[in-house]
Amino acid sequence: TRPLKVALLGCGVVGSEVARIMTTHADDLAQRIGAPVELAGVAVRRPAKVREGIPQELVTTDATALVKRGDIDVVVEVIGGIEPARTLITTAFEHGASVVSANKALLAQDGAALHAVAEQNDKDLYYEAAVAGAIPLIRPLRESLAGDKVNRVLGIVNGTTNFILDKMDSTGAGYQEALDEATALGYAEADPTADVEGFDAAAKAAILAGIAFHTRVRLDDVYREGMTEVTAADFRSAKEMGCTIKLLAICERSKDGTSVTARVHPAMIPLTHPLASVRGAYNAVFVESDAAGQLMFYGPGAGGAPTASAVLGDLVAVCRNRLNGATGPGESSYAALTVSSMGEV
Ligand code: HSE
Repeated sequence: TRPLKVALLGCGVVGSEVARIMTTHADDLAQRIGAPVELAGVAVRRPAKVREGIPQELVTTDATALVKRGDIDVVVEVIGGIEPARTLITTAFEHGASVVSANKALLAQDGAALHAVAEQNDKDLYYEAAVAGAIPLIRPLRESLAGDKVNRVLGIVNGTTNFILDKMDSTGAGYQEALDEATALGYAEADPTADVEGFDAAAKAAILAGIAFHTRVRLDDVYREGMTEVTAADFRSAKEMGCTIKLLAICERSKDGTSVTARVHPAMIPLTHPLASVRGAYNAVFVESDAAGQLMFYGPGAGGAPTASAVLGDLVAVCRNRLNGATGPGESSYAALTVSSMGEV
């Protein structure tokens, strides 16, 4: 069987782990897929920064030429951000490749348009790594629960803010002190705005709500409130009520089933709720459905290797589809529902 060719766009924390695992687990991957997978090119902005172990002859700064080559089976996009990722993904579909992406911002903003281009070109678009890193969520919601009816999804989908809130809860620290510790330990970015103001969680909420309810939800549809105003006093009050405070992504279907809402804000949850036990920088997503009842998905929501795990799972799935001359479920089950940022009051 001919090897399947993979182009990697981006070789930072996640991309270099993807390349490493593709090399070290090459035999296992070939066996699971039914054909070898070959790293055919790695596009980066700064070649000097590419880590050891990536053959220099594969490295290019011309991502456009790489996705236009025409012999690439799967493009793995781990650059992040809207552009150039969006144009590169679209170009990849038009030149015969399927795409695996970890790009939550792009999927939350333009998921529907990208799915449309994928479908027009009979290609796959998979993005398990875009929400909650290693935790399997996209395929369980889209496929395993496709015969059930999901009514609500509650998620702790940002590790940085969960670390900060957990610190405040367990030590009585204020927001700034806990943020400083998160920064010192490398959880929070130098500019933590996307995390603490809830933008990162809102993008993930949009993707989760769309998948869970088989509809389209965009970032703009998500009500968003960050956690910078939560104080040590709030935690003391919560404790008196047998609660803790988490930054939650809440996606709900209305009782009559015709509309969905998605929102991100700090919420009090009873200590008896499974989400209250999610400590440190971990993520968890609690799903309520008609038939399954309550499910919780838990694990590391960020980091190079955990995120690479999700990317590689997608790579295996897309390669298998490709060998079978098929595509995965895509957005085919899309149903038009009214989407708003606030629930029924
Ligand atoms: N900044 C994100 C987090 C990384 O803290 O969860 C994963 O998207």
